[in-house]
Amino acid sequence: MTQATNQSWGGRFSEPTDAFVAAFTASIPFDKRLYHHDIRGSIAHATMLAQVGVLTDDERDRIIDGLNAIEAEIERGEVEWSIALEDIHMNIEARLTDKIGITGKKLHTGRSRNDQIATDIRLYLRDEIDAVAAELSRLRSGLIELADREADTIMPGFTHLQTAQPVTFGHHLLAWQEMLTRDHERLLDCRKRVNVLPLGAAALAGTTYPIDRHVTAELLGFDRPSENSLDAVSDRDFAIEFTAFASILLMHLSRMSEEMVLWASAQFDFVDLPDRFCTGSSIMPQKKNPDVPELVRGKTGRVYGHLMSLLTLMKSQPLAYNKDNQEDKEPLFDTLDTVKGCLRAFADMAPALVAKPESMLEAARRGFSTATDLADYLVRAGVAFRDAHEIVGKAVAYGIEQRKDLSEMSLEELKRFSDVIGEDVFEVLTLEGSVAARNHIGGTAPDQVRAAAQRARDALATLQERHHVA
Ligand code: ARG
Repeated sequence: MTQATNQSWGGRFSEPTDAFVAAFTASIPFDKRLYHHDIRGSIAHATMLAQVGVLTDDERDRIIDGLNAIEAEIERGEVEWSIALEDIHMNIEARLTDKIGITGKKLHTGRSRNDQIATDIRLYLRDEIDAVAAELSRLRSGLIELADREADTIMPGFTHLQTAQPVTFGHHLLAWQEMLTRDHERLLDCRKRVNVLPLGAAALAGTTYPIDRHVTAELLGFDRPSENSLDAVSDRDFAIEFTAFASILLMHLSRMSEEMVLWASAQFDFVDLPDRFCTGSSIMPQKKNPDVPELVRGKTGRVYGHLMSLLTLMKSQPLAYNKDNQEDKEPLFDTLDTVKGCLRAFADMAPALVAKPESMLEAARRGFSTATDLADYLVRAGVAFRDAHEIVGKAVAYGIEQRKDLSEMSLEELKRFSDVIGEDVFEVLTLEGSVAARNHIGGTAPDQVRAAAQRARDALATLQERHHVA
């Protein structure tokens, strides 16, 4: 056997692997990040093999001690990864054999790299999902508390980005929170399908050793062993599902980002983003740029790209394992890194948004945002809604001409448009009256916002509890 031929499969080869092909086909440059989970999987496998009598207890102990020692070496940065050894599995196995001799070679009994890699990614992704869920909880919780504090703050609500009706800032923040609630549920739903054990499927058909897959599943905290060995080694749905979750989440974060960017502008002036989340300009001394939301908005693109990569990777693949599947890792890893970074930035930043209630109120006043309230008032006084719409339209046209909001007109001026209008009209023309009147579940009234914040707190706690039980 030559130096460049892999020792674990070199037996039937008559010439060494081409140096470029070795580098081209190797996954160690990116799958090395799976080392911890690869070792956990191997320890569980060895434990199960000893339990069913395929390994002696002594062999099992030597293997486990060796693997734990290798993990410590990796963490101290002492292990040099070898391209010739292709991937994380063979790098660790070769190191084990160097350390403990012939017994190291017995670890791979009854398994293949095909079920091993499928197990590693699932273990790794499960831990990462838990980390993502924790950040998502932190962000949701921050938004809920901010919304509660801003339950009375009035701002314009928009449709078509035109001032529509007044809403409360707390209500707007809880709309964001709802998007994230759905993301959180999708994430924990995806976790269920991640948490299934492929190990034991071996290369594709199972193994002739008397393995006990329930034991391995239990040792690794999986809900159950997978049902079908062909499916077990080839399924990457869980990676696609996670990336789909991530794409929708990033779509939501990009919408929030866009609003933060708009709101922080001089033209809107609704919020202040704390300086620590912004940067300056090297040429324009007055600038404070909302880089964090802009970058999160921008990063949405690569996550959508990874979803497309994974879907296309799996398209038309015949059963069972194909080398194509090695291409699942980089998109999945980058999706994880991106999601964790964006969520961390948002969980730190979003609750620190500083509302500017005067400019929000001023903007809500400027846009005739209580026009619908005046129409509803007319309807209550017996005017048909279509007529009321027309009457208020004329009053608005007059207001534009006179540069006056409806609430700034005198009773006499208002009466010119309809004589059913009385002194009590001013109660509905105020912004406070307008938001307070939308007093039903899901409405923008301050009391409703406070109640919704409480329900959101409870729902978050329930979801977290369900997750910890899982
Ligand atoms: N590096 C491979 C992957 O990421 C591990 C499985 C390799 N199996 C094989 N038969 N070449 O998919």
